Amino acid sequence: MDSIRITGGVPLTGTISISGAKNAALPLMTCGLLTDDRLILGNVAKLADLATMADLLGQHGIAVEPEGRSLSLGGRITNAEAPYDIVRKMRASVLVLGPLLARIGEARVSLPGGCAIGTRPVDLHLKGLEAMGAKINLDAGYINASAPQGLKGADIVFPFVSVGATENILMAASLADGVTTLKNAAREPEITDLVTCLIAMGAKIEGIGTDTLTIEGVKSLHGASHAILPDRIETGTYACAAAITGGDLFLENARAADLGAVLSAMREAGIVITEEANGFRVSRANGLHGVDVMTEPFPGFPTDMQAQFMALMAVAEGASMVTETIFENRFMHVPELNRMGARINVHGSSAIIRGVKALSGAPVMATDLRASFTLVLAALAAAGETTISRVYHLDRGYEAVEQKLAGCGARIERVS
Ligand code: UD1
Repeated sequence: MDSIRITGGVPLTGTISISGAKNAALPLMTCGLLTDDRLILGNVAKLADLATMADLLGQHGIAVEPEGRSLSLGGRITNAEAPYDIVRKMRASVLVLGPLLARIGEARVSLPGGCAIGTRPVDLHLKGLEAMGAKINLDAGYINASAPQGLKGADIVFPFVSVGATENILMAASLADGVTTLKNAAREPEITDLVTCLIAMGAKIEGIGTDTLTIEGVKSLHGASHAILPDRIETGTYACAAAITGGDLFLENARAADLGAVLSAMREAGIVITEEANGFRVSRANGLHGVDVMTEPFPGFPTDMQAQFMALMAVAEGASMVTETIFENRFMHVPELNRMGARINVHGSSAIIRGVKALSGAPVMATDLRASFTLVLAALAAAGETTISRVYHLDRGYEAVEQKLAGCGARIERVS
């Protein structure tokens, strides 16, 4: 199993080009199930999670062919089952449920089960589809869903914000009979990207970018070509890399508007962010100050940036508090950061961080995708050498990590 070895202490300088967003690409790829025509997705990163989604779509009969930085999706649905072996690797596999039901009136999708950052049920996805007329039963670890008469438009009010449920219902409603309204829908930029692509495919959707989406179902959707938006979490992560090493990085293709809450917390911590054409620059000349943050649905501070921001706070002056409100078990990076000399205590859903002057290299273990980059950040700032094992987590969602970081001066290598 690969690990990553980093010798810390080098301020990173130069340019990092931000890749297409993983969390936008996943639902966009499932749009390949919504039409017999060809769907072309541009600005696609090379990531393990997207390869997993390509495997899954292949099982359903949709071929996914890479063409440079694009993916070309096409084919007819031949199989309604999303098997456990693929779904267990990636929870986002459940996003095939809505499209399959809408398109062929049946789906059998393995239940995703728990994951390292919490139980993460899919009840909102199922209730939404039931409100649209689907019959759903759970049996032997599978969701068996059918809608022999087709899905019908419905008024759906989500009790809390779910990105995945909003996406699944959006896609299903695009081909349902009648009008669906989604209230308390997620407003993440990845949802806006999905809506933009669906509209390009012929869907009728209003309320883009708001928490109320109105979808008038159409009989069929056609092919389209859509360029995926830049990854805001990759952007924020490399912004933390510039800040924690006291460096100066230009983040090319990055969109500051998608990261408002993160950038304002970073500015408060003493980091300088300057918007330029086609991206923004992040630098730090002076010390970091502790800042409190709380994760929230967009436009709040994203849970997917919580761990990386905590690495920054670990070396900031003074104390800070990071509160996680989206997932119940998302502090697994804390013991690993503490092994590197951080002083962090967890109390329920909050972590109290007492900044230390310096971290020190140590052997550590990645526990989930974002936590794994948190350890990379800590290692970049630490004195001495850090070896991070279980880096397959990193490969799920960050493209060409070693190349991007080494290109800016980091001493980093992958060890087999
Ligand atoms: C997506 C992102 C993930 C991000 C998360 C929150 C993708 C592929 N993944 O995950 O990186 O961390 O949004 O921004 O885009 N919940 C339920 N019932 C449901 C659905 C969700 O209880 O039916 C709960 C979850 O357990 C969690 C919260 O709602 O506590 C938010 O989850 P959700 O927004 O659905 O996250 P994902 O779509 O899984």
